[in-house]
Amino acid sequence: MLTDFLAENKQRFLDELLELLRIPSVSADSSFKNDVRRAAEFVRDKLTAAGLDDAQLHETAGHPIVFAQKLVDPARPTVLVYGHYDVQPADPYELWKTPPFEPTIRNERIYARGACDDKGQFYMHIKALEAMLATDGLPCNVKVMIEGEEEVGSDHLGTFVAGNRELLKADVILISDTSIISNETPSLETGLRGLSYVEVEVTGANRDLHSGVYGGGVANPINVLAKMIASLHDDQGRITIPGFYDKVVDLSEAERAELAKAPFSLDEYKQDLGISDVMGESGYSTNERTSIRPTLDANGIWGGYTGEGAKTVLPSKASAKISMRLVPNQTPEEITDLFTRHFTAIAPAGVTVKVMPHHGGLPYVTPVDSVEFEAASRAFEDAWGKKPIPTRGGGSIPIVALFERELGIKSILMGFGLDTDALHSPNESYGLFNFYKGIETIPYFYKNYAELKQ
Ligand code: BES
Ligand code: MN
Ligand code: MN
Repeated sequence: MLTDFLAENKQRFLDELLELLRIPSVSADSSFKNDVRRAAEFVRDKLTAAGLDDAQLHETAGHPIVFAQKLVDPARPTVLVYGHYDVQPADPYELWKTPPFEPTIRNERIYARGACDDKGQFYMHIKALEAMLATDGLPCNVKVMIEGEEEVGSDHLGTFVAGNRELLKADVILISDTSIISNETPSLETGLRGLSYVEVEVTGANRDLHSGVYGGGVANPINVLAKMIASLHDDQGRITIPGFYDKVVDLSEAERAELAKAPFSLDEYKQDLGISDVMGESGYSTNERTSIRPTLDANGIWGGYTGEGAKTVLPSKASAKISMRLVPNQTPEEITDLFTRHFTAIAPAGVTVKVMPHHGGLPYVTPVDSVEFEAASRAFEDAWGKKPIPTRGGGSIPIVALFERELGIKSILMGFGLDTDALHSPNESYGLFNFYKGIETIPYFYKNYAELKQ
């Protein structure tokens, strides 16, 4: 029986995940290149051990993609599982209570970089598939594709997808890389925001200057950059770039009321973050601000002297990295273009401005009236005894919109993490409850989906 198999193998499942978490597969930093490959090999070997066929690494111009499949019956539907084995950089290391690549269990949680995003989450699928194959069998055909560049914009996955349409043919894509509301209130995300990411550089004089000799007489790029960034929001919290909101699809009052049903405590939110108040676009709730509304945020800013003590200097240059989260129907190309034109236009005389686009991605919305969504919703009911609440997520998985465009396949976002799991932060963690509950929930999806598709 499946439940017996899960119970008997609990400790081994966890031990294997911990082994995977010990591999520092940081995709952004080329000094970890071999570790990224080691993680891919680990995933490939576990897919083989789980009983899948054709498990192999597919080389790309960047990090390899792991693919495997188990085709049980052409008459049954095919599920394509997507996830990512790469992780965000772990710094600042000194803020971790235990080292990021030495996974530690405290208070029933696994602490490690990638514990939730996304190793702990995609590994649940490998273990659920192993359990199904070892017991009652697979009710659907399955293909598994785990990539190693999600955290750096999935640059080479698009080429792989476009070149392997037949291999990737499926009826639905199943992804666990998002969050639920809480362990008491399961939910299914029905949307992801898109992303436009740019780097800006403001240049003043042709060299750094003595701030006493020249200060007050020439533009200081740091002062100028700070003012330019500040001007990108008005005092209602709205973004001031002309045309920025033109394509934004406003939700109907009924849709907003539906989303507002999700339980949310502003007090707990503030307490968790250690802030005395929230801020954002007026006229919208915190949940709306972080999901159905587009945003603009500086992610990094630098220039001038930041070493020990004081150095009196007017820097020649100042820079910032800025991200914009997008909602339907904004596109990264259009928004990057609007940003570039506006940011260049507001530069005062005496400086030059350069805008360098980084990666981007389209927003995505999952229809809730499909058999795929129904299968996922029922899977939660089966395993949690509760119907999951549909929510719109704030994060981005840019490849999801590309899957739809290139393959014509919709994705189901069946994540099991919590927003408080500290993804991308020091002390990232994943609850043991979530890991095991996810492994228990996934087989119900296959069972329900096979039944509903008959
Ligand atoms: N898993 C996250 C996205 C996410 C997190 C969605 C929580 C919903 C809830 C993913 O790994 C991620 O971090 N994506 C990046 C995008 C990318 C282009 C670097 C992001 O959202 O910043
Ligand atoms: Mn992720
Ligand atoms: Mn991430």
